[in-house]
Amino acid sequence: MSSNSFGKLFTVTTFGESHGPAIGCVIDGCPPGVAIAPDDFRRDLERRATGKSRYTSQRHETDDVEILSGVYEGITTGTPIALLIRNTDARSKDYAELADVFRPGHADYTYWQKYGIRDHRGGGRASARETTMRVAAGVIAKKWLREKFHIVVRGWLAQLGPLTPRLTESGVIDWDQVNANAFFWPDAATVAELQKYIDVLRKSGDSIGARVNVVAENVPPGWGEPIYGKLDGELAAALMSINAVKGVEIGAGCAAVTQRGSEHRDEMTAAGFLSNHAGGILGGISTGQHILASIALKPASSILVPGRSVNLAGEAVEVRTKGRHDPCVGIRATPIAEAMVALVLMDQALRHRAQCGDVGAIMPRIPGTMR
Ligand SMILES: Cc1cc2nc3c(=O)[nH]c(=O)nc-3n(C[C@H](O)[C@H](O)[C@H](O)COP(=O)(O)O)c2cc1C
Repeated sequence: MSSNSFGKLFTVTTFGESHGPAIGCVIDGCPPGVAIAPDDFRRDLERRATGKSRYTSQRHETDDVEILSGVYEGITTGTPIALLIRNTDARSKDYAELADVFRPGHADYTYWQKYGIRDHRGGGRASARETTMRVAAGVIAKKWLREKFHIVVRGWLAQLGPLTPRLTESGVIDWDQVNANAFFWPDAATVAELQKYIDVLRKSGDSIGARVNVVAENVPPGWGEPIYGKLDGELAAALMSINAVKGVEIGAGCAAVTQRGSEHRDEMTAAGFLSNHAGGILGGISTGQHILASIALKPASSILVPGRSVNLAGEAVEVRTKGRHDPCVGIRATPIAEAMVALVLMDQALRHRAQCGDVGAIMPRIPGTMR
């Protein structure tokens, strides 16, 4: 199977299946001198992990990262970094009766059509278990971006089904609140409503979609490449590669359809841009404003509600999931989306440094969004 790597100078290759012995990744092109310890991965992997709250899947993984190479005495050496996480809570028997069945909404049928063979256990390679390694690689990218440029990449749950958090008029996110609940939800006043909605949904055996927003702050102007390496194009591809993502928006995104040019263009003054409908990117290159991305995630397909499908013999079957699954996979997608944005930014930063490192600071430099 090809296409398990992405990035140009900072590349990440992931391997492993949901119910295999381990998952892992090889990160190549990381600059030497970055301090990395197994503990650095813990926070983000716990944020992504299953079983941390009753609102997400009840699969319990410890997600301990083993650093196999590329780090000597806690410092990256510039050689390939190999990370490994052993699968400790894969209950393959949950999936035994699905071996001959194509689950609707999953990649079972398409993998079968493409390869003529598949590891059906837990979705195999198509399982979101793979995203654990993206989060692990993203930890290194986030760290490097923060130390070199004070860049902070963080996300929040911006919608769950019909529910949206109430934000202040300026749209400022309360990050303490995002970190204070199991949903990455920025509005303390509606957390209880959210919990109630998910409890009712879980009892009904169904699932729901979600929207996750990510912002990257302090990205300098000039990152991104025309024409086929546009920053927004690479962000869109990276975010769309996350399981269950059906839509990606940058800045105003689809709302641009109903905007006038006089509203959408972000007017500039010497004191700063007056808005950020572009999402911090013009012509595929960063403006120095916040990078704003938003993703739409579909509702999980593994639900208790029975659904029609076919088996390997092409016969009609009824599929009813018994395994342990999320009523809303969008909740756990937040750290995954942050990781993908950080990985793209680190790759683009290194590419910018390689080609334009001698250009230096260009004047005038317009400050980011004023409101
Ligand atoms: C964090 C995360 C967890 C997921 N867990 C489940 C799950 O428990 N059940 C399910 O049906 N889909 C789950 N998915 C989605 C499937 O992996 C995905 O829908 C499936 O592989 C088909 O791929 P596609 O939806 O990207 O086309 C999850 C997605 C993410 C991002």
